[in-house]
Amino acid sequence: MENTGLADNGNTVVEASGGRPAQLQWSSRLTFILAATGSAVGLGNIWKFPYVTGVHGGGAFVLIYLACILVIGLPLLMAEVMLGRRGRQNPANSMANLAREFKVSRHWRLLGWLGVVSGFLILSFYTVVAGWALSYIFDSARGAFDGLSGEQAGAHFGRLLADPGALIFWGTLVLLITLGVVARGVKQGLEKAVNAMMPGLFVLLLVLVGYAMTTGFFMQGLNFLFNPDFSKLSGTSILVALGHAFFTLSLAGGGMMTYGSYLPQHVSIAKTAITIGILDTLVALLAGMVIFPLVFANGLEPGSGPGLLFVTLPIAFGQMPFGALFGMIFFIMLSVAALTSAISLIEPAVAWMTEKYRVSRFKACLMSGLVMWVLSLGTVFSFNIWEQHTLFGKTFFGVLDYLTSGWFLPLGGLFIAIFAGWVMTRRATEQELGRGLGYRLWYYTIRYISPVAIVIMFLNAIGVIG
Ligand code: PHE
Repeated sequence: MENTGLADNGNTVVEASGGRPAQLQWSSRLTFILAATGSAVGLGNIWKFPYVTGVHGGGAFVLIYLACILVIGLPLLMAEVMLGRRGRQNPANSMANLAREFKVSRHWRLLGWLGVVSGFLILSFYTVVAGWALSYIFDSARGAFDGLSGEQAGAHFGRLLADPGALIFWGTLVLLITLGVVARGVKQGLEKAVNAMMPGLFVLLLVLVGYAMTTGFFMQGLNFLFNPDFSKLSGTSILVALGHAFFTLSLAGGGMMTYGSYLPQHVSIAKTAITIGILDTLVALLAGMVIFPLVFANGLEPGSGPGLLFVTLPIAFGQMPFGALFGMIFFIMLSVAALTSAISLIEPAVAWMTEKYRVSRFKACLMSGLVMWVLSLGTVFSFNIWEQHTLFGKTFFGVLDYLTSGWFLPLGGLFIAIFAGWVMTRRATEQELGRGLGYRLWYYTIRYISPVAIVIMFLNAIGVIG
């Protein structure tokens, strides 16, 4: 068989006992970096980071988020990819394999499960938001943003949210495209798209930063982002910053573990993880540097919530030369960035079904897609007909987001750290990560610092300490 891509057909996958056959591996380190960066960079960086930063008051939140990336996110990213590569299957099976190898309870596979479930829940709202981006491609192209004021941009977005039919249409389209790619096999469908789009997105963000500089409010934006005011931080903000660090690096959502399982043995996990971490953080900070100057220049409210990006950018595109074209390209790229993340959110579930129940990739996509679609209606209605139905003041979308980012991902991360640092032998982790100073730094961080930090943040959030 040709080396055409990952898991092109379900049968190849199930034949794999022990190591995966060659066609189930990334062809090179670069492919893995692209796919993993594609997973990491997405709506989390460009849509979510600015709006949660706005809601939680700016600089202090950003500082905690950056610290979380450094001392928890990066070591855990290495750990998760390592678990996947050593376990060599979907997250649930990988964890079961590892539990056997290191002679601990089979219940560790629940950790893999937690990842699969978190990814699934996240995707159910992710497709809806990606749908907003998709619809904005067409809005921009037909000149709907021309000369919009802040208020008009808000009204434009409000009309989209108020229309469940439109949200369902765009969300369904995103889901179908995602499933289409996943059904064809990740590498086949994915590689080319990511190749072209990731650098493009980066360049376009730089162009937008340039535009933000002309608004006269650039410094005010930077000040909001980077000047920490700790009086604005609550226990919840800290948990949200932690959760966002997980979300943005695609940690504990099963995706990185699954992608790790496709990683050849000779590739350096540490170097790749650091590259991914740097790129991901850079994109988020650039997005913030675009959005906050625009917020202040147009008298908008930084803490206005999930609509922040979708209200600020149309104003900019409506004012700049060739704005309709730039806007169109930007939202295409945002949609592709979202797509490459969405793929990694559903791939674990699909890999699990094909490997466990030996169904074809196509059937697995169909089944998970159906469940996902029904679940996504909850998010759609959160913005209109169910807006008033809240639990602890949160809509269905709010609850999903809070549960996954705030609790499931960090909890998964805690157990990944424990497994990598305490259950696996030092010999095994050295084999995977290499020896040396960097290794020792990782080892002590993953054993002591990351888990303790996560537990402290949990205790702080439920009000036990702090
Ligand atoms: N990291 C992705 C983003 O920032 C979202 C994601 C979360 C993907 C968890 C996979 C797993 O958009």
